[in-house]
Amino acid sequence: MGHKVLITGVAGFIGSNLLDYLLKETDWIIDGYDNLSTGSIANIQPALSEERFTFVEKDAFEIESLKPYSKIFHLAALPRIQPSFELINDHIKANVLLACHIIELMIKEDHYPRFVYSGSSAIYGTPTQIPTPETERIDCLSPYAFQKYEVERYLELIATRYPIDFITLRYFNPYGPRSFNPANSFNAYSSVVGIFLNRFNEGKPLLVTGDGSQERDFIHVRDLASANYKASIYPKTINTSFNIGFGSTTSILALAQLIGSNYSFIDKREGEADITFADNSKAKAILDWTPTQNLREYILSQLSK
Ligand SMILES: NC(=O)c1ccc[n+]([C@@H]2O[C@H](COP(=O)([O-])OP(=O)(O)OC[C@H]3O[C@@H](n4cnc5c(N)ncnc54)[C@H](O)[C@@H]3O)[C@@H](O)[C@H]2O)c1
Repeated sequence: MGHKVLITGVAGFIGSNLLDYLLKETDWIIDGYDNLSTGSIANIQPALSEERFTFVEKDAFEIESLKPYSKIFHLAALPRIQPSFELINDHIKANVLLACHIIELMIKEDHYPRFVYSGSSAIYGTPTQIPTPETERIDCLSPYAFQKYEVERYLELIATRYPIDFITLRYFNPYGPRSFNPANSFNAYSSVVGIFLNRFNEGKPLLVTGDGSQERDFIHVRDLASANYKASIYPKTINTSFNIGFGSTTSILALAQLIGSNYSFIDKREGEADITFADNSKAKAILDWTPTQNLREYILSQLSK
């Protein structure tokens, strides 16, 4: 048997896909924590019978020791831009303090597993460089973006004093299976690909915000899972951040038109960027990671279901 690893937020969209990936591609033993605040047990149902996976339905604040783990994938969060403007304390707790809890445990136990942190391209706001490299200036347009960035900075600062071993993955716009959880009260703010497909299946018009010219770098969740894996096996401590995007863009209007002709326009929302476009060359060169999943093919496969 291989490593013992921890996934926080395992019952969420990305966490559950990462779990499937690791069960398939590795022989690792996996503990997964989730308090089911935005996640769903249905996301991990098939994996529950796997001998190598243990699900702990608990708040990740209750994790008391990291000693068993050689790698931690930290995904638990409240990951929606719009609600972060209102439920500010809840978002600070889930997005900042929870990561700090885990970092403190490392220090307390003097045990520093590879910490793969799920960051976000939201920290670039409206970027000045297109495609956007990791060296872009930070421009947080929402409390959520600011919180994701704060954890990156905590990791860097604490690493000046303790032997923290982290890699931050700044995800661009994830899509793929389970991105839309109908039971999640925040689902109106989940990935636009999932929302559009859900509305299409319900025969409702797709609601395009603004004029739909805003562009997104969509990245399939399987490619995020492989990036997490690659980050977790990188042989040295590098304590750095990587853009995890496909490296091309699609406008929201073009996405709607790919799905169908039944769409209408609603007001633009504050706090959201005009364009996200990853320069992903650093992850390709250092992590030996390449995205392989095609957005158009995924959409067409979903429409023909
Ligand atoms: N989906 C995106 O568009 C996107 C983009 C960039 C970055 N990210 C980051 O990726 C990560 C995963 O996002 P996701 O889209 O899978 O979201 P998600 O809401 O589907 O998953 C988050 C999971 O964390 C769990 N959780 C929250 N607080 C918890 C706590 N205190 N203890 C235990 N579990 C807790 C939730 O129940 C949920 O299952 C997040 O860190 C998010 O910030 C997501």
